[in-house]
Amino acid sequence: MYKIILLPGDGIGIEVTKSALSVMKTVAELFNVELEFEKHLIGGSSYDAYGEPLTKETLQACYNSDAVFLGAVGGYKWESLPHNLKPEAALLKLRKALGLFTNIRPAKIYKPLIDSSSLKKEVLSGVDFLVLRELTGGIYFGEPREFDANHGLNTMVYFKDEVERIAHMAFKIARERNNKVTSVDKANVLEVSQFWRNVVHQVHKEYEDVLLNDLYVDNAAMQIVHNPKQFDVILTSNLFGDILSDIAGMITGSLGMLPSASLGNKYALYEPVHGSAPDIAGQNKANPLAAIASVAMMFDYSFEMKKAASLINEAIVKTLEDGYRTVDIQSEGCKIVSTEKMTQIVITNFKELYHNQAIGLFTL
Ligand code: IPM
Ligand code: MN
Repeated sequence: MYKIILLPGDGIGIEVTKSALSVMKTVAELFNVELEFEKHLIGGSSYDAYGEPLTKETLQACYNSDAVFLGAVGGYKWESLPHNLKPEAALLKLRKALGLFTNIRPAKIYKPLIDSSSLKKEVLSGVDFLVLRELTGGIYFGEPREFDANHGLNTMVYFKDEVERIAHMAFKIARERNNKVTSVDKANVLEVSQFWRNVVHQVHKEYEDVLLNDLYVDNAAMQIVHNPKQFDVILTSNLFGDILSDIAGMITGSLGMLPSASLGNKYALYEPVHGSAPDIAGQNKANPLAAIASVAMMFDYSFEMKKAASLINEAIVKTLEDGYRTVDIQSEGCKIVSTEKMTQIVITNFKELYHNQAIGLFTL
């Protein structure tokens, strides 16, 4: 039995979490695995109910989980709150509290969507890399931090163990993929980056079969747009990873398609990369595919159910191939569907793919 904590959050987070839940329930049914769900508030909706974006109860629930699924947090309504009460603060606190130091954001091209990218087809076809972002250190969390009327101050600091553990992750993940790590820093200017580079190279000695190269972050930003095929695993710090993963996300054609996993030694959190999109919230228009692909990552990384994960991904591709689109990825001649309809179609395809492969196995 696995216990999954659902944190729908705000805006379209609520709708796409419903989609994710339906997919999880389908997996439970088909693969005969027992899943228990518990829903909690986070972000703006938690602030409205309890006066804080992350309550002790929600955090405690996550401490007792096998995996956490988060929809999205944030919205115009809460933008003028002080820093520590903003919905985003909940996310940062949760990452830190659960020790989720590895953030994995795949940038994979879905063939049926290749025309919706701003990049040329030739540049894009075959692109398949992931941004591995350090998530609990660096300038996001460095002390001191302060501002007053005359100055603002943040601290970019990395400690050896923080760089070592994310570097180990990068090399291990690369071994399962195309064996290449690109470490991104700003070592020509920042001491913290020179340190990062030294530690990454030290760790690399244990993984000499994996190819390692270094890029400065400005060059990396350019290369992702210029020739994204060169990348396999991009390893980088918290702030650079925030920026590069948005660039990587955009070249794939839609932010509405991108899943993510945040992993620590004990806990794991899965969330679509898109935000809470308050402008379309509550309208049954949101694209549920990033949330559904995040569910696939959950079954892959947290429960070692690789078959379930790959069938979910195949079901997404089949749905796109059949021409179904939510408004964010619409194109000529496509069939525009709602969040709920899209979810139903993916689930139907998933069930069909599952039964087909079961029959296939049976007749072997
Ligand atoms: C992300 C987001 C967050 C971040 C914000 C909402 C705090 O942009 O997950 O990339 O900067 O990490
Ligand atoms: Mn971001």
